[in-house]
Amino acid sequence: MATWAQTLSGSDGGLLQQTSSTYVLVATGILAYVVYSKQETWKLRHIENAGSSSPLYFVDAVRYMINGKNFVTNAVQKMVKIPTLDGWVVLLRGEDVIDEWRKLPDDILGMDQAQHNTLQTRYTMSERIVSNPYHVPIVQSQWRRAIPRLIPDVKEEVEVAFETYVPTPASSEDGWTEIDPQKLFPKVICRASNRVIVGKPLCRNEEFIENNVQYTFDIFTTAYTLRLFPRFIQPLIGALFRTKEKNIDRCLKHVRPLIQERKKRLESKQDEEDDEPGNFLSWIMEDAKDPQDANEREWAVRVLVLNFVAVHTTSTTVSQSILDLAVHPECHDILRTEAQEAVDRYGWTKEGLDNMVRIDSFIKESQRLRPVGFALVERVLMQDHTFVNGVTIPKGTTLAVDIDDRNQQYPDPDVFQPWKFYDLQQKTQKPASITAITPEFLSFGYGRHACPGRYFAAAEFKIVMAYLLLNYDVRLKGEERLPDMFVGPGRIPNPKERLLLRRRT
Ligand code: HEM
Repeated sequence: MATWAQTLSGSDGGLLQQTSSTYVLVATGILAYVVYSKQETWKLRHIENAGSSSPLYFVDAVRYMINGKNFVTNAVQKMVKIPTLDGWVVLLRGEDVIDEWRKLPDDILGMDQAQHNTLQTRYTMSERIVSNPYHVPIVQSQWRRAIPRLIPDVKEEVEVAFETYVPTPASSEDGWTEIDPQKLFPKVICRASNRVIVGKPLCRNEEFIENNVQYTFDIFTTAYTLRLFPRFIQPLIGALFRTKEKNIDRCLKHVRPLIQERKKRLESKQDEEDDEPGNFLSWIMEDAKDPQDANEREWAVRVLVLNFVAVHTTSTTVSQSILDLAVHPECHDILRTEAQEAVDRYGWTKEGLDNMVRIDSFIKESQRLRPVGFALVERVLMQDHTFVNGVTIPKGTTLAVDIDDRNQQYPDPDVFQPWKFYDLQQKTQKPASITAITPEFLSFGYGRHACPGRYFAAAEFKIVMAYLLLNYDVRLKGEERLPDMFVGPGRIPNPKERLLLRRRT
């Protein structure tokens, strides 16, 4: 029997030789990476570091990762660079620089490259999502046009979700039920959004909902793990991850019957005869012009990706605004009266929501102070570029916009002023609602890629808040709001935060 040493060495050097070549490969990799990072740092040496610098790049990158916005100490209107797990990100600040950024074409500001770097789209989504994002014009057109028709459906979904997930306390003396907002709202929003993405009854299927909420976490976990490795090794490691395939399989289990049914309808041209309004799944099936997109797996990925872009962002914003509502009891009667009058007069319709102007202002102020991320809308520079402030950034650098810096351009920027946007609209007669994008309010992005889903998101926010006000009393479990949590550029409410809800009779 071969000994352990023999097995290791073998007749021609065997495993030992293999092991030493592995060491050489790893050592070369590390060396190449160190040289590469030094070179990158050197190229950006004229841009100040965002936080206090440690001599070891990775120490700062991890500090930023777990401490996010708190790491970025110098709140000046100057470009700074942030150390991330896979390289520097230059944070753009100042109205003139951001206005210039907005106007630069896609061949100078690469969006696909940035999305791939941040979300590792190749291993978490699909190549086609990036190379042919035909779902974006669908959100801009078919989805947006359908909003007036969808409002009663979304309200019904919110209502059913509250009845399902907010237990009525049988034994509690005072009738208050404790709620974890970060468990409740993702499910409420996931159901409501999927009423439009795949329709009823699948939008109420618990397993489907769980899978979609989980998918967002899978994307972040996979992407952050891969980003721990140098870019040139990522394809090797990425190939080992099954995140994408696993999630597509789970999604297909539920959407395949809908796809088959829809295909039959399309084949028999039934659509021309009935007035079935369709949903996101049917729209992507109809608009898949390229044969590479016209198959079950690609449609399932788009269903997942829509869940990714629509659910986490919206539910985090809803959680933040309802937590703010809980600590501003002085606003409850005003908002409740507004909701009641709008519903009495117009029902749950677009006109009804358009008349909830103070609710709109309240949510927007919450979103201004607590956006889902502070360094959003990443792009990779495809060529060297000198900005209007005279600073030249080299090709290949990742850029992000400092949303907080922009959202702070109001008088008393740190004070929560619930009627700020309502008053602004009255005074200027210019749109200041949630969906209005101005240089001072960039929570939905800016320019040609600004969020096309914001009209639907705003409708969801207002339906949830109005429904909650009309049916529940709300307060915070603790005395005051706990500090938000920052993970890299992201911001979420403190996981220990709890709401108390009491059914109104
Ligand atoms: C609070 C809720 C939301 C926030 C804060 C948000 C934020 C954003 C931001 C900042 C962008 C710009 C990304 C960039 O320029 O790199 C974006 C893009 C996008 N959003 Fe949203 N979003 C929200 C809800 C939604 C919803 C509900 C939908 C779908 C109905 C949606 C669909 C999209 C799509 C498809 C894009 C890509 C646009 C493009 O590539 O041109 N979003 N969103």
